[in-house]
Amino acid sequence: MPRAKITALGCFTPERVLTNSDLEKLVDTTDQWILERTGIRERHIADPGVATSDLAVEAAKAALAVNGVAPGDLDAILLCTVTPDMFFPSTACLVQNRLGASRAWGFDLIAACSGFVYGLVSGASLVASGMHKRVLVIGADTMSRIIDYTDRGTCVLFGDGAGAMLIEPAAEGEDAGFIDFLGEIDGSGGDFLKMPAGGSRLPASRETVDQRLHYVHQEGQQVFKYAVRKMGDLCQQILERNGLTGNDIAVMVPHQANRRIITATAERIGLPPEKVLINIERFGNTTAGTIPLATRDAIGQGLLRKGDIVLFAAVGAGYTAGASLWRWGY
Ligand SMILES: CC(C)(COP(=O)(O)OP(=O)(O)OC[C@H]1O[C@@H](n2cnc3c(N)ncnc32)[C@H](O)[C@@H]1OP(=O)(O)O)[C@@H](O)C(=O)NCCC(=O)NCCS
Repeated sequence: MPRAKITALGCFTPERVLTNSDLEKLVDTTDQWILERTGIRERHIADPGVATSDLAVEAAKAALAVNGVAPGDLDAILLCTVTPDMFFPSTACLVQNRLGASRAWGFDLIAACSGFVYGLVSGASLVASGMHKRVLVIGADTMSRIIDYTDRGTCVLFGDGAGAMLIEPAAEGEDAGFIDFLGEIDGSGGDFLKMPAGGSRLPASRETVDQRLHYVHQEGQQVFKYAVRKMGDLCQQILERNGLTGNDIAVMVPHQANRRIITATAERIGLPPEKVLINIERFGNTTAGTIPLATRDAIGQGLLRKGDIVLFAAVGAGYTAGASLWRWGY
C-alpha cells in the first residue's frame, strides 16, 4: 500500500483588509478588546461579487504550480467549506470546471473549522488505498458572506481565505507522509454555533431574513470551553498512541479560532510557544482556510522542513474535531 504524502501547498487571500479599528466604526468594540480576547488584529475580506470558488481556484492554481502538475492529472478534488457558492452544484464541481480538471471527481466536505483536517485524511485515504495518485484538498471560506456585521460577538472573529494541498503517493521506502488521524464529532453541541436558516429545516423566507437567521449565530463561551478541552484531549491522545511527546513535534499547526484556545492546547501537550504556529493576528478565523494558511507561514518561518513531524489540530461547529500527524514530505 502506498503512503500518502503532501507534495505541494498553495494559498490565496483577498487583498482588502478589515482592521480592528474599521470594526470599531461598525459595532461597539475596541481594538484592545479584540486583540486581548482573540489575538486578531485584521482579516482579509473578499470584494462584493467574489465567491468561495474564486478563492478556491486561486489557491488550487498556486498549489498545482509548485511542481507543475496539470489540472488534467488530478484524480479528485475535495473542497472543504461551509460557504459554498450555492447549495448545488457543489463548489468542487465549479472549481473542477474552472481548473479544467477533466479527469477529476470530487465533492464538498462540510465540517466547518475541522474541514481541512478531515479533507486531508479523506484525501490521504484515497491515495493510500491505491485508488488515486493525485488528490487536491482545498479549504476555502468566504465567511464575510454569512457574518452579521451588527453582532460584535461574531463579526470580529472571521475573515476570508483559502488554501490547497496536493496529496500524492510517497516513493517506495520514503519516510514521509501521513502518520495518524483522530477525529470526533459531537452533535449535542450543534446549537452553539450554527447558521440557523436557509436549509430544509428553516427555508429562506421574509421572516428568516428579518430575524437575521442567515448569519452565523454563536454562544462563544460554550464553543470556547469545548474547543480548549477537545483540542487538548485529541492532541494528547494522538501523541500518546504514537509513542510521541511534544519533543518529537517540529511544529503544531492548529486551526486559528482564538489565540487563547491555541496556547491552552500547546501548554497541555508541553509544546513551547516557538513550536506553535499562530497567525490569527493577520487573518482571523478563515474556517477551512486556516490550516493551509498557517502551514504556509510555518514553512516560511523555517518551523517546518522536510522530514519534520507536524501536528494539525482543529475544532469547529458541529461540534467537529480532529488531530492529525504527518511527516512533512518536501
Ligand atoms: C467569542 C469570544 C472571543 C468571546 O470571548 P469571551 O471572553 O468568551 O467573552 P464573552 O462572550 O463571555 O463576553 C464577555 C463580554 O464581552 C462582550 N463582548 C463580546 N464581543 C465583544 C466585542 N467584540 N467587543 C467588546 N466586547 C465584546 C460581551 O457582550 C460580554 O459583555 P457582558 O459581560 O457585558 O455581557 C470567545 O468566546 C471565543 O473565542 N469563543 C470561541 C469562538 C470560536 O472558536 N469559534 C469558532 C469555532 S472554531
